[in-house]
This record gives sequence, C-alpha cells and structure tokens, in this order.
Amino acid sequence: MGKRAKTDPEGGMKAILKLPDGKIELPILVGSENERAIDITQLRSETGYITYDNGYGNTGSCRSEITYIDGEQGILRYRGYPIEELAEKSRFVEVAWLLISGELPTKPQLQSFSELLTRNAALHEGLRHHFEGFPPDAHPMAMLSAMINACSCYHPELLEMEDESHVLEGSAKLLSKVRTIAAFSYRKSIGRPIIHPHPKLSYTRNFLHMMFSQPFELYEAPDVVDRALTLLLTLHADHEQNCSTSTVRMVGSSGANLFASTAAGVCALWGPLHGGANLAVVNMLRKINESGIPLKEFIEKVKTDPNLRLMGFGHRVYKNYDPRAQILKKTADRLLNELGIQNPLLNIAKEIEGMVLEDDYFIERKLFPNVDFYSGIILSALNIPANMFTVIFAIGRMPGWIANWYEQFCQKAKIVRPRQIYTGYATRHYIPLDQR
Ligand code: CMC
Repeated sequence: MGKRAKTDPEGGMKAILKLPDGKIELPILVGSENERAIDITQLRSETGYITYDNGYGNTGSCRSEITYIDGEQGILRYRGYPIEELAEKSRFVEVAWLLISGELPTKPQLQSFSELLTRNAALHEGLRHHFEGFPPDAHPMAMLSAMINACSCYHPELLEMEDESHVLEGSAKLLSKVRTIAAFSYRKSIGRPIIHPHPKLSYTRNFLHMMFSQPFELYEAPDVVDRALTLLLTLHADHEQNCSTSTVRMVGSSGANLFASTAAGVCALWGPLHGGANLAVVNMLRKINESGIPLKEFIEKVKTDPNLRLMGFGHRVYKNYDPRAQILKKTADRLLNELGIQNPLLNIAKEIEGMVLEDDYFIERKLFPNVDFYSGIILSALNIPANMFTVIFAIGRMPGWIANWYEQFCQKAKIVRPRQIYTGYATRHYIPLDQR
C-alpha cells in the first residue's frame, strides 16, 4: 500500500473562502507527491454554495493510490513505478497485476495469474452466438461494449464481489475475454470464421493469433510485432481519472458490477477526443497525404478554424511532452525500420510535430503530442485495421479500469452525484396541445 493523502497536515492547514455573506475555513489535503487540494465536502451544507468546474479540470473526484501523473514535468508512474521502466522491462500481464493488486507479482503469483487468464480465454457458447445478431458492418467498439456487458449474464457469480480472490477471478475473466471478444468482433466484421484462443500462447500472441490465423494456417507473430503490441498495451494500461476511468468509477459508484461498469468505460473511450483520437490521427494524416495540402497551410487552418483540431495533440493534464508519446515515437521509428515498412504518414507526423513545437499558437497553449499521435502508425504497421485501433486501447486500459473499480469498491465510496447550476426556465404552466 502506498502513502495516503493526509488531512490537516502540519497542524491543520486551512484555506479561507470569503463569500458575499460570510466565510468558511476549508481543510487542505496533501497527497503523497505533495499535490494539494481544498476539501469542499462540507461547503454546501455549511454555506449553501456549490463549486462550478466545467469539465472538472480542477476537481479531485477521489483519492487514489494507483497512478501518479505530473503533467508539468511529463511524469507518469503506475503504483510508483516510472512508465519508462515498466515499458522497457515489464510485460502487460505483469503490469495488469501490479495495477490491480498494488504490487509487482512474485513468480508463482504471475504464473497462476497467467494460467487463470488462459483458462478464461474462451467465451461461453451462448455468448458467442450474440455475434450473429450484429450486422456485418457493426463497429467493433459497439460490439465490444455490448459483449462485455453481456458477460454479466453468463457470470452471475461475479455480480457481487466478496473478497480479493473473487475480484482476481473477475479481473482475469475480463482481461482475458476482452481480448477474445475484440478478436471475434474483427473476424465478424471481415466475414471470416472465428479463431479460438490457443492455450500455449502468451497474452499478446494469443490475441494476434485470434486476429490473423486461418483455420488452415497458424499465424505466428514475429517477436518485433509481439514486443510492440505489448508495449502499446502497457503504455495504455492506466492514466488516473481520465474520461473513461471516471466513467467506470461513476457507474461503479452506484453499485453496478464490474462488467457493466467497464462496458460503460468502453463507450466513453470511443469518442475522438479520448481513445478515438488514435484513429482520428491516422485519418487526418491520410487526408493530408492524399490531398497534398502543404503542412504549413494545414497547420494555419487548425489554428484558425474552430471546428478543426490537430488530432493527437494537447492533453488536459500534460502541459509538457506526454512521456508515452516520447516512447512511442522511438518505437514507431524502430518498428517500421525492422519490418522494412515505408509509411509516408510517419514522416508527415514527424514533420508536423517539428513545425508545431516551434509555433507560438501551440507553445502558448502548451500543446504537445499525446499518446495517440504515434500509436495509430504503430498499429497500422502491425496490420491492425483502423476500426480496431480504439479497441486495442480498450484492451490496454482494462487493467486500469478494473483497478479503479476495485479501489472504489474497497473504499466503499459514495455514489457519484454532481450538482449543477440550473439555467433553464423558472416555473411555467402546462399549455394544452390545441392552444400551442
Ligand atoms: N489542436 C488545436 N488546438 C487545440 C488542440 C488541438 N489538438 N487542443 C487544444 N487546443 C486549443 C483549444 O482550441 C483552446 O484554445 P483557446 O484557448 O484559444 O480556445 C486551448 O487549446 C485549450 O483547449 P481545451 O479544449 O480547453 O483543452 P482541454 O483540456 O479541454 O482538451 C483535449 C484536451 C485532449 C480534449 C484537446 O487537447 C483535444 O481536443 N486534442 C485533440 C484530440 C486528442 O488528441 N485527444 C487525445 C487525448 S490523449 C489520450 C486520451 O485521453 O485518450
């Protein structure tokens, strides 16, 4: 267990809030990395005021021991371990255990967790038949969310968690099945027969096998492909209170089960401002490439057209280089080189990055490449089709969603229920239909 946030540190530090009709003293909380928060939990009951924070950019919604980000310094740590070390030395399954349980696994723990994943890779036959109900062009994200939710019908024993071993079993089921569901969704979308999981393959190799093997021909992923996918999943594994994780916590706060809560997380991730950005980046780079628009002109358009954004740039928390983007840029270079792929999109991406990092518009707004800027290029090199990009993000983020759901469950957290500033009509009275 890490250090917890302290209330009333150093003899009870307080903030004083002056209001038009009085004042209130509010406790200051200090996190284990010295980040500070004003505790307003008694504000409304004592003063009648609420706070307004559109988009929650200044709101700490929970106390968490899972992931630490310093957006000014470009720091990301899972359970205290720097992302750079985990990216270099760890494997995705190990990182999943770390996030969920709080510690790196011992050898026997890792082995039994891996075995649990293997045992839970298959889908219940009834669940598999659900795929037949989707139209051929169904989006894999829609199928993923629906199928994760449907898992709750087939595993009623996991609807109420009792202890840690129960949670580990639920986690293993979800982590393993999300990969199978994702691969089956892809096979369905291309009209090919599904490929069942292989008990002898590692987490990522098994996924690639279910994606790309044929009934008559086994696909064996080259090491470089396996390594790149493992790295991508590891880098996406958690990112504190982002939109989808907050969604998982919010849904879970009502007492909703792990499957329902993470299915909601998939839906939140789908949007182009969040996980859908990896696809949006590649679409943007393709359009630039096909249209031949000079990059300078494109960047000027981004700066002046309020409906246009440079996808893969900017972040609510990072006001410096996203450390994940830094790792992925190097990976993209190395991977394309090792696979002998010439992708003009990588050159365009690098050129854009070079130009905007010297452009006042981006400098003033502290807009740097984020995790999605280079990930789509890497996924394309792995032959992952574009409509699966965000699905891969979801597989990667699953440990973080589970860890946050579990942490909140252990904290017996309150139901999440923000307030609002009502700006609609004052009372008005019903007008019968024939008088309107
Ligand atoms: N291109 C151009 N201008 C931008 C961009 C961008 N990508 N991002 C922010 N800005 C401008 C924005 O127009 C605003 O300018 P002004 O102050 O003149 O109105 C200023 O920067 C602040 O933007 P904001 O929308 O208030 O910032 P935010 O913290 O609410 O949004 C963001 C963060 C990630 C949604 C946003 O930067 C964005 O839309 N980026 C592109 C989409 C993207 O790459 N998303 C992936 C995020 S990282 C992974 C993940 O979360 O899944």
